[in-house]
Amino acid sequence: MPDSPHRVRRVLATAAAPGRFGAVLDRIGTEVAALGERGRPADYIPLLAGADPRRFGMAVAEPDGTVYGVGDWREPFSTQSITKVFALALVLALEGAEIWRRVGREPSGNPFNSLVQLEYENGVPRNPFINAGALVVTDRLQTLTGHAAGRVRDLLREESGNSDVDFVPEVAASEATHGDRNAALAHFMASYGNITNPVPHLLAAYFSQCSIAASCADLALAAGFLARRGVRANGSVLLTRSQTKQVNAVMLTCGTYDAAGEFAHRVGLPGKSGVGGGIVAVVPGVCTLCVWSPGLDRHGNSVAGVWALDRFTTLTGLSVF
Ligand code: DON
Repeated sequence: MPDSPHRVRRVLATAAAPGRFGAVLDRIGTEVAALGERGRPADYIPLLAGADPRRFGMAVAEPDGTVYGVGDWREPFSTQSITKVFALALVLALEGAEIWRRVGREPSGNPFNSLVQLEYENGVPRNPFINAGALVVTDRLQTLTGHAAGRVRDLLREESGNSDVDFVPEVAASEATHGDRNAALAHFMASYGNITNPVPHLLAAYFSQCSIAASCADLALAAGFLARRGVRANGSVLLTRSQTKQVNAVMLTCGTYDAAGEFAHRVGLPGKSGVGGGIVAVVPGVCTLCVWSPGLDRHGNSVAGVWALDRFTTLTGLSVF
């Protein structure tokens, strides 16, 4: 069957990555081997602490669903905060601008798990990508659908075309054993009425959502609607053009936490990181990228991942600026 414009298809890498950006990916894959300092894996989730910082994968998905990559680009890893993009997209699709009454869209300038702004800003988190904001978004998704984590997983499955994308209950349980800070954030916001589900239920949904394992190929494909102005892999509309712009904008300004300015300076693309070492980035109208390497900097962003995206936009001249 011929490929329709938005049919998801997978292109397996040969010796050299195929596609429009194959040569660039191959070059980055070669250069990354010489990278020295790669940071340390997240250790507050015990099950992630043993990841090898030398692992590296990078995938590009073009808007027609063609995907290719280098290194460990088909290896599933813990998506963590990258799922916050998909949860936000689902809530925007379901209730539109209503969510912006509960969560802001300004950079916080604070670490992703910070509590400090919440009290003097009356329980309304700065943006949907810090943990407090993501908890509000997952709370809304839970209320709207009854199964927030399942809806995020299903969106990832459908957009990636990979039904193996799934929760990793051991990772969710591992995070739950160290979940006091997220519990504190949720209870504090509940005291302002900005969390409406029982906090234990919300935390279970949030930790499940964060535990989803997917590969660079899966995530680059799954984020494709952000490069296609809101159009899903099957051609239907998930987000309006305006909503897609909003998600990309908040990724650019808030997607890498208190390093968002540095990320914009170096990479120049909307991006969203996770403490599993993944980063998804969007070149609107052109492609989506996902890079994975488990070593993190002090802000919780993958060292080799930011470096690789920096190289990609430098070598191709592509950015949103
Ligand atoms: O809430 C947490 O701590 C994690 N499950 C997700 C944090 C995360 O990935 C932050 N990103 N860099």
